[in-house]
Amino acid sequence: MRIVVTFDTPYGGWDHPDHERQMATEVAAWTHDEPEMEYQVADALRERGHEVTLLGVQDDLQYLVRCLDEIRPDLVFNAVESFHGNPGLEYMVPGMLEAEGHRYTGSPPLALLISRNKAMSKKVLAYHGIRVPGFVTFRPGETRAVPDTLRFPLIVKPLLSDASAGIAQASVVQDETALTERVAMIHQRFDQPAIAEEFVQGRELYASVIGNGDALHILPITEMVFDKRRNRPEERIATRSAKWDEDYRGRKGIRNVFARPLARAVRERLAAICRTAVRALWLRDYARLDVRLAPDGELWVLEANANPFISYGHDMANAAEKAGMDYYQFIQRLADEAVARYGRA
Ligand SMILES: Nc1ncnc2c1ncn2[C@@H]1O[C@H](COP(=O)(O)OP(=O)(O)OP(=O)(O)O)[C@@H](O)[C@H]1O
Ligand SMILES: [Mg+2]
Repeated sequence: MRIVVTFDTPYGGWDHPDHERQMATEVAAWTHDEPEMEYQVADALRERGHEVTLLGVQDDLQYLVRCLDEIRPDLVFNAVESFHGNPGLEYMVPGMLEAEGHRYTGSPPLALLISRNKAMSKKVLAYHGIRVPGFVTFRPGETRAVPDTLRFPLIVKPLLSDASAGIAQASVVQDETALTERVAMIHQRFDQPAIAEEFVQGRELYASVIGNGDALHILPITEMVFDKRRNRPEERIATRSAKWDEDYRGRKGIRNVFARPLARAVRERLAAICRTAVRALWLRDYARLDVRLAPDGELWVLEANANPFISYGHDMANAAEKAGMDYYQFIQRLADEAVARYGRA
């Protein structure tokens, strides 16, 4: 197939040859430094024999429209995670792809918008009988009482961010004073509403899914585990450091592993939750759910990621590998899902 890989780039004015050079450099250095996700995807698609063009977008949709008009790809592999440096605008590119009639991998704008909004997605999931933590949102400039139904501790997050931006140990608050302070910090630093959710204690599970409709493949569950001696229960959260800072992870004994044994009833319930969530949130081709398993066996959905991280060696690619797909097959499979979906349409 002729495939264009679209992705966000900070380099305004970079064209295909610039990205080709950058990709060659990064792929050559792979053993000690991870290439950007889009280069890994393009590399995998080339390995699988496709004709691949790299199309980086910073803030110029017109450029993207023109290039795609010229190339006329069979499929766009959409690896865009932000537009104009703003992750909240990631939906712009699939929006344009829809408008121009291109076939592309992954979730449509609606799914990206709903699942990015941590309040909206919880409302939709709750309607479908999925347990989600109780929450309240605070828009900048708004004073709002905490509803009586919410019980401390709460965890305060930016409403629309991802990659654990703004999530630290200080996000877990025990009283109104700490809550007000943290909300103000989110408004100021992230320039967006804050959400305060009831804190759910328990195991941190990630469920990756591939596919559409009835043919949904739920990959082996992964888990972030915390050394219990070095992290108190309320400290066992995927903060920014817990996710991305290898030294910190080492010090605190934090690892991402395949999930420790799960009761059969929990596994079945989790699979049912995935199927319902994919349908309810209009997710497409692939996604990842962040879930907490409480000590009483109850599952709580924290969020659905419509555009999960798919780099080699991270949760979703690891789960795919465990299911028998090497990285190249995994990326091919995501493309296949999109092609099959359009074929059916
Ligand atoms: N209600 C909650 N109860 C307990 N822990 C929570 C809660 N909400 C968030 N967390 C912790 O904070 C982490 C990040 O929260 P969340 O997944 O909502 O944000 P994110 O920044 O969008 O993450 P991602 O990188 O997965 O997109 C969770 O993985 C979890 O460890
Ligand atoms: Mg998350």
